[in-house]
Amino acid sequence: MESKESRLETSTPNVSPSTAASNAYALGLTQFQGFWIPSSRVPNSSIISFQKYFQALDDDIIVASKPKAGTTWLKALVFTIVNRHSYTLSNTPLNSTNPHQLIPFFEIKLYRENPNPDLSKIPSPRLFSTHLPYPMLADSIKHSNCRIIYITRNPFDIIVSLWHFFRFMGDWQVEDCLEMFCRGEEGYGPFWDHVLGYWNMSLEKPSNVLFLRYEELKEDPVTQTKRLAEFLGLPFSMEEEKTGVVNQIVDFCSFNNLKDLEVNKTGKMAETILPNNKLFFRSGKVGDYVNYLTPAAVERFNNILEEKLSGSGLTF
Ligand code: A3P
Repeated sequence: MESKESRLETSTPNVSPSTAASNAYALGLTQFQGFWIPSSRVPNSSIISFQKYFQALDDDIIVASKPKAGTTWLKALVFTIVNRHSYTLSNTPLNSTNPHQLIPFFEIKLYRENPNPDLSKIPSPRLFSTHLPYPMLADSIKHSNCRIIYITRNPFDIIVSLWHFFRFMGDWQVEDCLEMFCRGEEGYGPFWDHVLGYWNMSLEKPSNVLFLRYEELKEDPVTQTKRLAEFLGLPFSMEEEKTGVVNQIVDFCSFNNLKDLEVNKTGKMAETILPNNKLFFRSGKVGDYVNYLTPAAVERFNNILEEKLSGSGLTF
């Protein structure tokens, strides 16, 4: 039988038993290729299979993120933009399927179920996703012309969102979660190395890597949705803009719409231990962290982050 650990759907922070004795989160992370990775993916790992076997195609699209940065939202937008000529908003599979099932993770789904899945039958453009940092991507991705959209978010909102997300597994404190981030030992972390990898590639190869922020998507979703479509080589036509297609896509993918779909309210992905899909839709706000973290805690992580990002041109 599959162990609870091996069925973990997303990152498992490295909380010491003394700080979170009752939390199944304490299942642990393993340092692997320079990052803290959920132990269930190492060493006979889906990651190694992905790195070894995945053959990227030039028109592949990959959604990349750290957990809780807005992955679900971005997947919904990308799926809708790419498939807008195949589905209307009334018959899109997003009405009955969680975005994570439509854009599967390499390391959590595809290469976990099968070390060498046949992905050649998927119609182009193929849509994939990953929480892995840039250096851990398959070489074929780095050498291809495929497009990567990376979404990041104010790390304090990520911390609070992650803390809430895993509370179903047992009680733990938001301070424990912040502490992991300060040490750089959270799932798929350190945070700074994760963002820097994609940030630097977005500067080096801007037509292949788009660096997007949750906050800018929130502030002006219409402009950012157009930016996404252009980056994907699928810009909206004048006609589409005139007839309100962009606004309709933005409204469809909004927090309020997605969270109220039955599949996201009561549905559950069979292959995970997550109790329901609802967990992916909590409050969808910018700056919610001020309700949970003290100014001193924020300053502490900020100081670390500033030092780690110094000279990169990247700020939060
Ligand atoms: P909060 O916990 O702050 O509400 P991920 O998809 O990477 O797991 O990120 C989850 C976060 O994105 C959660 O943040 C969730 O509420 C928010 N989210 C999910 N769908 C969203 C949407 N359509 N618009 C805005 N935020 C969304």
